[in-house]
Amino acid sequence: MTAARDPGLNGRAFTAAQSFLLGSKLYWTHSLYPSLRKQYEERAAKTPDKPRTAGDATALMENSADYRLYAWLERHLQRFKYSGRYGLQPYHAEQRVDLERSLDPSGLPDGLLELNPDLDLPSYYTAVDIHQHPGGVWSDPIAGFVYERGARSTTPTMGARHADLHDRLVDAVADRMDRDPQSILDMACGFGKSTGPFYERYRDALVTGVDLSEPCLKLAARTAADRQATNVRYLQRNAYETGLEGESFDLVTSTMLLHEMPPPKIGQTFDEAARVLKPGGLMAHLDFYHLPDAFSRFIHYGHARRNNEPFMESLAELDITALLESKGFTNVKVEPYAEADGVFDEAYTAWRFPWTLITAEKAV
Ligand SMILES: C[S@@+](CC[C@H](N)C(=O)[O-])C[C@H]1O[C@@H](n2cnc3c(N)ncnc32)[C@H](O)[C@@H]1O
Repeated sequence: MTAARDPGLNGRAFTAAQSFLLGSKLYWTHSLYPSLRKQYEERAAKTPDKPRTAGDATALMENSADYRLYAWLERHLQRFKYSGRYGLQPYHAEQRVDLERSLDPSGLPDGLLELNPDLDLPSYYTAVDIHQHPGGVWSDPIAGFVYERGARSTTPTMGARHADLHDRLVDAVADRMDRDPQSILDMACGFGKSTGPFYERYRDALVTGVDLSEPCLKLAARTAADRQATNVRYLQRNAYETGLEGESFDLVTSTMLLHEMPPPKIGQTFDEAARVLKPGGLMAHLDFYHLPDAFSRFIHYGHARRNNEPFMESLAELDITALLESKGFTNVKVEPYAEADGVFDEAYTAWRFPWTLITAEKAV
């Protein structure tokens, strides 16, 4: 017999289970990863040929019990986070009725949200449960909530605020522009976490967020309405075929989009950005790219496999600068990006994503 779950108890159990998982992830990030790196360096020092590729590093580390533990924990902490007994998916599913009701778009201001139920979703997008999120971020009406809650513990950096990452992008982009943008496009805006800092910073600009995921867009729109933002709109469109007016944006951004796409779609996304940008406009993509050595490639490509991210590796192997220049972009910059204070310090040895800021300008 299955006992009915008391919602209050379940809420407490969910919080306890998720905080246990986060604590385990912090141990993985701040203790296991640095000791694995040390072990790799000791082994590499003893080999006659310095490892140069991810494959070389794999050959050196695949029999390491520490690596097996590290990889097992990475895969299964994420699985428990989403699908375990107190995972994000079952927890939110128990509140489905209320959550779906809260997303009812009928009370939203005109023009804030435009959905397109006939939009074709690309097969690369629907084929995989990205991040081990059951059904991905698009198939369940409550997927936006699940993703939003999950994103709070994606980059567990001790002592840093997660919001820093997206807020810092606005600062980094502002440094590269000689005047405030009046029209901004956030490609693949998700539930609006990457869009919010732009519409809050540039109150006189119209900020447009596009994404494929209806559940995420609905949550983004509800959040904007709660914040009484009047300079943002969310559209259910494909980033590489937005249908938006040509030469109409001063700034096109994306955060964590490129690594989710197969390379031909990345090329199309750059073409689309070039089409909608005004001459002299800026494109800025924040993603995972800068992998300076064999160990960091080995770790990142393994992370991609364990987290159901099939295109991380192809992005990292792409010559982004050459691709952007071949498409006529100028002033192309591909730079490591500090997602939190102190992460470039020598003393900072914890695991982190290979955050990279890619910027380029449309020729005048
Ligand atoms: C990792 S999430 C990042 C969301 C948001 N930018 C952020 O920083 O929180 C990636 C997003 O890309 C969206 N996406 C993937 N392919 C897309 C495409 N071709 N067009 C628009 N959105 C896409 C997904 O639906 C998802 O919301």
